[in-house]
Amino acid sequence: MLLNAHPTCLFALILAIWPQPLHALPGSEIWNVLASKISIPDWFVQSPPSIQHRELEKRDGTNYNPDGTPFLWLPQDEYSGKNFFDDFDFFIWDDPTQYVQSDYVNRTTAFEKNLAYVTDDNKVVMRTDNTSTLERGQHRDSVRINTKKIYTTGLFILDLDKAPYGCAIWPAFWSTGFNWPAEGEIDILEGVHDNEHNQITWHTTQGCIYDENATFTGTIPQHDGVPSTDCWNQANQGTGCDVIEWSRASYGPFFEAQGGGVLAMKWDENDISVWSFFRAAIPKDITAGTPNPSEWGLPSARLMNTMCDLPKHFARHTVIFDITLCGAWAGASYATSGCPGTCDERLMHPENFETAIWQINSLKVYRKQLLSGNVTVVSGSGAYASMKAHAPVISLVIASTLTFVISI
Ligand SMILES: *[C@@H]1O[C@H](CO)[C@@H](O)[C@H](O)[C@H]1NC(C)=O
Ligand SMILES: *[C@@H]1O[C@H](CO)[C@@H](O)[C@H](O)[C@H]1NC(C)=O
Ligand SMILES: *[C@@H]1O[C@H](CO)[C@@H](O)[C@H](O)[C@H]1NC(C)=O
Ligand SMILES: *[C@@H]1O[C@H](CO)[C@@H](O)[C@H](O)[C@H]1NC(C)=O
Repeated sequence: MLLNAHPTCLFALILAIWPQPLHALPGSEIWNVLASKISIPDWFVQSPPSIQHRELEKRDGTNYNPDGTPFLWLPQDEYSGKNFFDDFDFFIWDDPTQYVQSDYVNRTTAFEKNLAYVTDDNKVVMRTDNTSTLERGQHRDSVRINTKKIYTTGLFILDLDKAPYGCAIWPAFWSTGFNWPAEGEIDILEGVHDNEHNQITWHTTQGCIYDENATFTGTIPQHDGVPSTDCWNQANQGTGCDVIEWSRASYGPFFEAQGGGVLAMKWDENDISVWSFFRAAIPKDITAGTPNPSEWGLPSARLMNTMCDLPKHFARHTVIFDITLCGAWAGASYATSGCPGTCDERLMHPENFETAIWQINSLKVYRKQLLSGNVTVVSGSGAYASMKAHAPVISLVIASTLTFVISI
């Protein structure tokens, strides 16, 4: 892999990252790694006179595990623009929650009826049918999609202009395993009617508790006088462990009025945390593609590993967008929501669904790359040196004649 060529200083730098060889990864990731600072021991730099040594800008975004091991979040997948729907499956079965009055359409129907499309300026849109007048009790067409790819851990960053809201409307941006609830569920953005506060929720099998002593900005609601900290799907009448965001602009009309923003979900062995930023407050490192959660301040919600064995309760998730109408949440709460009439009546009129719309700029997935291990520098001339990594400090050596293999 030739990274650079200079008339007098032609060199090739082959980077291999342990445990995964870096040359298997796209170019942008190499930039991420190379933009880290270099440190080469003096004895090595001084030995062959032809070797020059240059320090690059330190890459922002080195994070640390509680045990001190450094790591970066490196780009893995991007879902955006014209190809967005290629990497998703359309879910065409009945919504698995109760009392639902929406039908999920297949890919062909979704495109034909304009329930899923990409605009000329690359906005990804998903919506419910907003043209059909229905009889009472008839279902309205809607869309649910999930990534074809399956993830166990990752940093998921959704940039969106609009999330669905309004009476009878119950959207979610979430992830879950095929084996529910054994593989867990993470609800990142969810709400009903004209809620203004996003609700973040985890559902698991027995034995996963939300540690109230974790640091986060949201509030834990009570269900029947009990704080909903038990994530077991059979506790708290199945509500899971949930946290309500403090910001009024985290869901619904105010979120949209702010131009939407970014929802970020970090899932690793330490915790599963969710942040939301409205558009004016999106951290620069997110925009730059070098996300650094450790600089984002407290998350809205954080499920710690202290009282929940995360690898045991969460695995093999697809990432999902849906819009449910009525159903176990929006239907059951309709009467007390302040919305007019009944959920059935609401459903009949297409003009009630103008706000049942996802408008998405991108979903980017980053993977955690540990920066620990040993650095090995191999030269093409046969010289060989090995040194212990001063991770996260990564070295780049420029030499006139040598090829270096640096493994971290
Ligand atoms: C999609 O759904 C429509 C309407 O139910 C049906 O007619 C069509 O055969 C389906 N297409 C595929 C490819 O399943
Ligand atoms: C329905 O949705 C489409 C697509 O988002 C939009 O262009 C249209 O203005 C909406 N309203 C009606 C009545 O079609
Ligand atoms: C949270 O911290 C308080 C004060 O240190 C402690 O008394 C309590 O037991 C902790 N709760 C949990 C669930 O660990
Ligand atoms: C790094 O080097 C040390 C000492 O040579 C060795 O014990 C250790 O197993 C190496 N670690 C890896 C990940 O290769």
